[in-house]
Formats: sequence, structure tokens, C-alpha cells
Amino acid sequence: MIIVLLGAPGAGKGTLATALKDQLGVHHISTGDLIRAEIKGGTPIGLEIKRYVESGGLVPDEVVTKMIEGKIAATAKDGKGYMFDGFPRTSAQAQDLDKILQKNGLQIDFTLYMEASLDIVLKRLTGRRVCKACGALYHLTGMPSKKPGICDKCGGELYQRADDNEDTITKRMTVYAESTRPIIDFYKAQGKLKAVNADREAGEVKAALLKILNDAKS
Ligand code: AP5
Repeated sequence: MIIVLLGAPGAGKGTLATALKDQLGVHHISTGDLIRAEIKGGTPIGLEIKRYVESGGLVPDEVVTKMIEGKIAATAKDGKGYMFDGFPRTSAQAQDLDKILQKNGLQIDFTLYMEASLDIVLKRLTGRRVCKACGALYHLTGMPSKKPGICDKCGGELYQRADDNEDTITKRMTVYAESTRPIIDFYKAQGKLKAVNADREAGEVKAALLKILNDAKS
């Protein structure tokens, strides 16, 4: 199964992928996580792309596509499939993904468009906290950890992402509207677009995706 999760920053792509990747047995590939790992590691690529992420802009297509190509080449043969989170984000990336998958004898099953309202995503992003050690996602009020500032899963310290401040969030929303929303039509034209209302509670969004998968089987 190959699924692309498409939606605005804060729509809940990472939360949904984390909740379902084990149950579906797929690889969860988040370009945001791959990019943050390069930056944290201080690699030459990380140093080059830090400024794009900090300003809320997009990392150049060729850098991100290369990362994805490497991940797919390393895992395509295991047959597990993928849940792409935050990729593709431009028309060029969407076309590149089709080509990379094709080269490996694969194709996207469907793209899940997670529709969420602006006021809701703003609240989610400003309250988001992430575990420094294992990457688990929390929200200060919506999905709080049992002990403030401490990860329930591994005891790691929770932090606020550098790009989760109001100025950068506003820029990310503009970039999403200009560069990412147009690919909705790309997948619609391929007959591969399914939409869910992502304003709902996380369990309901997960159930909506599972229903789509069940309907596809029958
Ligand atoms: P990335 O990390 O991909 O960020 P994003 O797309 O802005 O998405 P987010 O991670 O902010 O949101 P999400 O939808 O995953 O929400 P989450 O589940 O965490 O990218 C960061 C940057 O990297 C980009 O700005 C860009 O610079 C660069 N980049 C990445 N990919 C790129 C690409 N392909 N090309 C070029 N550049 C790229 O949830 C958010 C919060 O809400 C959490 O606190 C969670 O607990 C809560 N929550 C989630 N769902 C629900 C729910 N249903 N109900 C209540 N609360 C919820």
C-alpha cells in the first residue's frame, strides 16, 4: 500500500502516520523528519538547508527528491509500501515521485487530502510539543503528556519546533497555499484523491482512513 498524506501544516499528517504505520506495516517517510535530522546532525546538506526551514520556505526540490529516492531505493524490495508525509509538496516533486516509484515497479494507491480549518491548525501548531529523543508528538492542551515536558513513551524531554512560532507558521501557510495546494488537482486528475475532514479528533481521522482502506478492499 502506497499512500500520500497531503494537507496544511498542522493538519495532523505526522500524527496519523505514527498512529497507523505499524498497523499497516508500511514505511513512514516524513521529509520534515529527514530534513530536521540532517540539520541536527550538522551535515553539509543540513547546513545548506537550515535557512529554508527556519524561514518557513521550501527546501529545493532536487535536495528533497534525492533524499526520497535514496529511501525508496533502500526499501522498495521489501514490499512493505509507504506512507509519505509532507512529500510531495510541489508539482515537480509529485511528478518526480511518480517517476521514482515507476522505476521501482511501484505506484501510489491514493492520496489522502486532510482538510483542516485555519483556526484549528494554528492552535495545533502553536501548542505542539515533540520528544527530543523519540519524536513522539504531543499538544499542550489537546494531547498533553502525563508529566509536563516529559515524553510518556521514553522519558525524553519535550521541545517546541523552531518553526512553530506565529511568524514562521504564517509563512508556511502561504507557501502551502501557493505551492502545495495545486497538487490536489494533479492527484484528482489521476483519480487518486480521497479527502477526509481533519478538523476532527485524531481517533476519528484514523477511523476515516481505515474505512477508506476497507472500502477499497471490498
Ligand atoms: P514538516 O515537518 O513536513 O511540517 P508541515 O508540513 O508544516 O507539517 P507539520 O509537521 O507542521 O504538521 P502535521 O500535519 O504533520 O501535524 P502533526 O501531526 O504534527 O516540514 C517542515 C519544514 O521542512 C517545511 O516548512 C519545509 O521547510 C521543509 N520541508 C519538509 N518537507 C519538504 C518538501 N517535501 N519539500 C520542501 N521542503 C520540505 O500535528 C500537529 C499538532 O496537532 C500536534 O501537536 C498534534 O498532537 C496535534 N494534532 C494532530 N492531529 C490532531 C487531531 N486530529 N486533533 C487534535 N490535535 C491533533
